[in-house]
Amino acid sequence: MNSLLSWPEPVVRVQSLSENGIRTIPGQYIKPITDRPELKPGSEIDEHVDIPVIDLRNLFGKDRALHDETLRRIASACEDWGFFQVVNHGVSHELMKRTRDAWREFFDSPLESKQLYANSPSTYEGYGSRLGVEKGAILDWCDYFFLNFLPVVLRNESKWPAQPTSCRELVAEYGAEVTKLCERLLKAMSMNLELQENYLQNAFGGDDVGACLRVNFYPKCPQPELTLGLSPHSDPGGITVLLPDHDVTGLQVRNNGKWITVKSVPNAFIVNVGDQIQVLSNAIYKSVEHRVIVNSEKDRVSLAFFYNPKSDLLIQPAEELVGADRPALYSPMTFEEYRIYIRMNGPRGKIQIESLKSNRKSPF
Ligand code: OGA
Ligand code: NI
Repeated sequence: MNSLLSWPEPVVRVQSLSENGIRTIPGQYIKPITDRPELKPGSEIDEHVDIPVIDLRNLFGKDRALHDETLRRIASACEDWGFFQVVNHGVSHELMKRTRDAWREFFDSPLESKQLYANSPSTYEGYGSRLGVEKGAILDWCDYFFLNFLPVVLRNESKWPAQPTSCRELVAEYGAEVTKLCERLLKAMSMNLELQENYLQNAFGGDDVGACLRVNFYPKCPQPELTLGLSPHSDPGGITVLLPDHDVTGLQVRNNGKWITVKSVPNAFIVNVGDQIQVLSNAIYKSVEHRVIVNSEKDRVSLAFFYNPKSDLLIQPAEELVGADRPALYSPMTFEEYRIYIRMNGPRGKIQIESLKSNRKSPF
């Protein structure tokens, strides 16, 4: 597919724009009035609620009652929100901090050293500044680094930053720890859906699952009211485990038509349900729209770890969740097919998953 071989326009690093001290942002980053952070009527920001925080200490622990209670909390967070924070998740806080600091150091390094990793839309691996290949598209105020973590055959450590020197090792260790957390979360979700406890893991390919990491860097922005760090989207994959910056907010989640700013708890991860879980659960769990706003005071780093089905497996609603009263809402499709579609178009709210509904025309 030719259109995925190169970017449609010269790539501009948002961080360079920001560091050049511009007072007004280029037109390509200015969102139409209705898409700007605070202005859309009917989608005001609700500052009084927050996503649930769940303590995972007792998940799969010895105490049956506490384990069941934890499962119930995960179930209602998945049903009501599709987004929650987890604490006592088993990943070392020190490892989280060191990994985030290493990425901050990468983004703080000179432009020439980052350009060695410049990416292309064929795989997105490396240093990038846009999602989608539509010429003339309005862009987000964000640079990122994207890498494949699983399956191991797709892991190409030589494409990961060589500087700081600890980066590759930290990513390997961090990815392995977060993978374990994802396995536990998939098990909990399978049990909550009354499926066999390994159902979702097996549907994702068992030991052959996919996983990738996108490290987002949102530079300071002189006109944050005109743009977004990341446009509204749902995550295309299975589940996402996000490590937000420790002291800068930015992530907003759509709930009942309002945007909610996530106030992250220290050392927590933010977990969300992706489109593939929506398909497998026949929409009992829904992927939720979210976006990122930027500010003029502080830049922000976040690490989004995406745990995904193996790319060539057909993903479809679990038979157990389909019946006469609840027909299958989605036709089978591989994650690879779905991802190509997303990568052509960039972030578009929930249009993409909605267009998969069996009664609608397929996007392909
Ligand atoms: C993402 C994402 C949120 C954030 O990378 O898909 O939603 O806070 N990131 O950076
Ligand atoms: Ni996302």
